[in-house]
Amino acid sequence: MDRDIIEALIRVVEVKDACTAAHTWRVALYTQLLSEAAGLDPDEVLHLMYAAVLHDIGKIDIPYRILTKPGRLTAAEFEIVKTHTVLGYDRLRRMDETDPVTLAFVRSHHERLDGSGYPDGLSGAEIPIAARCFAVVDTFDAMTSIRPYRRHVGPEAAEKALAVLKAEAGTRYCPDAVELLAARFDSGELDWILSYFNDEQPMVSVSSYDAPVIATAGRELSRRWRSGKAAPLGASRVASRGDAG
Ligand SMILES: [Fe+2]
Repeated sequence: MDRDIIEALIRVVEVKDACTAAHTWRVALYTQLLSEAAGLDPDEVLHLMYAAVLHDIGKIDIPYRILTKPGRLTAAEFEIVKTHTVLGYDRLRRMDETDPVTLAFVRSHHERLDGSGYPDGLSGAEIPIAARCFAVVDTFDAMTSIRPYRRHVGPEAAEKALAVLKAEAGTRYCPDAVELLAARFDSGELDWILSYFNDEQPMVSVSSYDAPVIATAGRELSRRWRSGKAAPLGASRVASRGDAG
């Protein structure tokens, strides 16, 4: 699919739900880190990052009032939010997207091993492996980002999130992906993502959603973090054009 069209679609989601911008970058960066750690070649890493960037594209069709509702969603509203999986899948199919990995990310990232997920209630190996792995990343980010009811994030929140994921590894979450994520956290490789991208100010507009741009920015920010030269950039600086390159 044309990258400009993808960019435009995600920009619409971003305008409707600013928090999605930071979420999109973080899950793409976690995907980069884990797939590199799993030994995938650079093209495969970018392929998965491309799919990660698109995973919530169906939110484009969810009403603004529901996406931005500050309080808890009603059961009916949550049912509407859940449709972002199928709506995103259908939209990409209409746009002639045929890549099975991308389509699996979009449709099946809320499926759970025990069949308790949505939209299809798939279980175990019925869930495409890419979606099984990405569900761990998506859930981890949901549990480690700022919410109205969660002000303290960063490594402390990550420890709690990993405890939940480990407790449910094999029942709800892919145990291999959980293990890989936990190992990267233990080695400190996730700290910069947890720290950089959890400003209270949402990333209203990032420089690009193109997977290679995010990958390049990720390598540079990770390098700065490890070298100890990284100032606390925060999302707003990362978002500025030029800092991402
Ligand atoms: Fe989602």
